[in-house]
Amino acid sequence: MPTTRNRVEVMHGANLDKLATRDPEHYGAFSLSKLERKIERWAHEVGLNARFFQTNHEGEFIERLHRVPEAADAVIVNAGSWTHYSWAIRDALELAAVPAVEVHLSDVMAREEWRHFSVFDGLVLDAISGKGADGYREALERIATELGA
Ligand code: DQA
Repeated sequence: MPTTRNRVEVMHGANLDKLATRDPEHYGAFSLSKLERKIERWAHEVGLNARFFQTNHEGEFIERLHRVPEAADAVIVNAGSWTHYSWAIRDALELAAVPAVEVHLSDVMAREEWRHFSVFDGLVLDAISGKGADGYREALERIATELGA
């Protein structure tokens, strides 16, 4: 019997738990839990089951990625500022070896130069930035197509 591959792990890194109090010009004016509820709804619309994780600790983020192969068929990663320098997180995502899409709420290319670089370059199916919450909807659609969900 064919098994459905429809589990997506949505991972948020450092400071994203503080979304509601961060600069609304870059991040909008919603909390992480509001964002997660939206993502959950959009996931169902495209036939996916979303699970959520957020931490401010790099090692915990890495250990969660280590568990991804058993727990999920794909990942959406917004690693916050770790995106721009954590080779350890890149290695862990590579180890997870599942389809991944990188999302940023803000338009990282229009901000400070240090935000222009991503350690995930070449590893992810797509990198979506500057579309606010809608970027996650696009990421879910990309993953649903990839998994044939
Ligand atoms: C972010 C962009 C990063 O540069 C920043 O460090 C974040 C959030 C975004 O969603 O726009 O924490 O990943």
